[in-house]
Amino acid sequence: SDGDLLAKTTVGNKPPASSSSSSSPVLDANPPKGTRDFYPPDMRLRSWLFGIWRDVASLYGFAEYDAPVLESESLYTRKAGEEVTSQLYNFVDKGGRGVALRPEMTPSLARMVMAKGGGLPMPLKWYSIPQCWRYERMTRGRRREHYQWNMDVWGVGGIEAEAELLSAMVTFFRNVGLGSDDVGIKINSRGVIAEVLSGLGVPEGKFAATCVLVDKLEKVPLDAIQNELAELGLERSTIESLTSVMSNATIESVSAVLPPGSVAMKQLSDLLDLCDAYGIRDWIVFDASVVRGLAYYTGIVFEAFDRRGILRAIAGGGRYDRLLETFGGDPTPAAGFGFGDAVIIELLRDRNVLPSFDGSGFDFVVFAMGTDMYKAAVGVASTIRAEGRSVDLILEPERKAKWVFKHASRNEARYCVIVAGDEYENGEVVVKDLSVGEQRTVRMDALGDWAKEAFKS
Ligand code: HAM
Repeated sequence: SDGDLLAKTTVGNKPPASSSSSSSPVLDANPPKGTRDFYPPDMRLRSWLFGIWRDVASLYGFAEYDAPVLESESLYTRKAGEEVTSQLYNFVDKGGRGVALRPEMTPSLARMVMAKGGGLPMPLKWYSIPQCWRYERMTRGRRREHYQWNMDVWGVGGIEAEAELLSAMVTFFRNVGLGSDDVGIKINSRGVIAEVLSGLGVPEGKFAATCVLVDKLEKVPLDAIQNELAELGLERSTIESLTSVMSNATIESVSAVLPPGSVAMKQLSDLLDLCDAYGIRDWIVFDASVVRGLAYYTGIVFEAFDRRGILRAIAGGGRYDRLLETFGGDPTPAAGFGFGDAVIIELLRDRNVLPSFDGSGFDFVVFAMGTDMYKAAVGVASTIRAEGRSVDLILEPERKAKWVFKHASRNEARYCVIVAGDEYENGEVVVKDLSVGEQRTVRMDALGDWAKEAFKS
């Protein structure tokens, strides 16, 4: 019952306790297949991840941008046979326009650059954390919506852009507690494929579609790919040349089978040298078989991977110097990557490096001992909030102290402030420090200063 909001029968859910009419439909409380609800602990995890992405982006001088999740479908109608274009969430809107939920951010970014008609000062370094939609077959770490950190550099034609992007990615991994023995980044250049094809006299127009097919070699049997390449008009010997080049393990051995003076290989070795300068060389692995599945990549491509080889690609990117041209814009060099939220969380969970997200994010719980103290408790909460401290005011004055203490510790609050009759008449409140279990009194007139200083010890 994909996408059915009202399901006649629910699977796994309890039927309603009482219903006036037994035939009335029961709302399916699950979100659409492949999508997620974010309950507060999930949301705290998400905000934590986004916060680190944002911090790294601004550490590298990238500016944040955004675009609508709904785009014109024509933004994605590329004809190279890519998986993403067959996974579109698309429909015709009430005005008869073909629209789609974005499966990725790069076409929107290109559209935004194009809309300024050359008016943007280049180079630009922009980042975004869009939610992207793909009608995928679901596997571990692959779902129908995901958030994707995008980092892109426009206007820089040299591999300095790729090196900066790789360094930012590594900084993220380090900041979440992963090392180069956990994660590696495979790099390659599609220039290698371009050089093999041009050496064999294959027209340039077949380059993108060939790359998309070659990328499928890992998932689809060789026969099927060879047939599709034949349909594209390529000789059987061409795929044999490509696969043999791509099976080389070192830059030297690939160079040896390419025509002398290969530009692609020179760029790759320059990039590796720059990675040395950044101090990230031990994260980088040359891999001639990495092609990436998107049609628009033209040069260096890369992919972050789990060194144990269990999880799917953590992030992917590359150079796409021709994308703007395919939209009818001026040629503009560009490179970037997309980094999904799903696989990295799986990895961090596996490695036990995720912080706890059980706390609710408030530091103080304030409660009134008895209904008649409620207004006083409101005043106490206001005093603490005025110092910029987060307070969970217990809104039910009839709650017992035992419940309040349990509630406070379940939410990982640090202090319980008890507004009780006798103490309050003496101008004091009772404060319990839950981290050590100690209880003492604080004078009302010193409460603001106390709350301000409370976390220094
Ligand atoms: P992509 O390789 O299609 O590239 O996706 C990049 C990353 O997004 C993947 O490595 C993965 O982390 C995440 N991702 C993609 N699809 C899913 C999914 N169904 N579920 C969970 N995570 C997913 C792009 O999208 C390019 N636009 C990236 C780029 C930016 N290239 C240049 N600039």
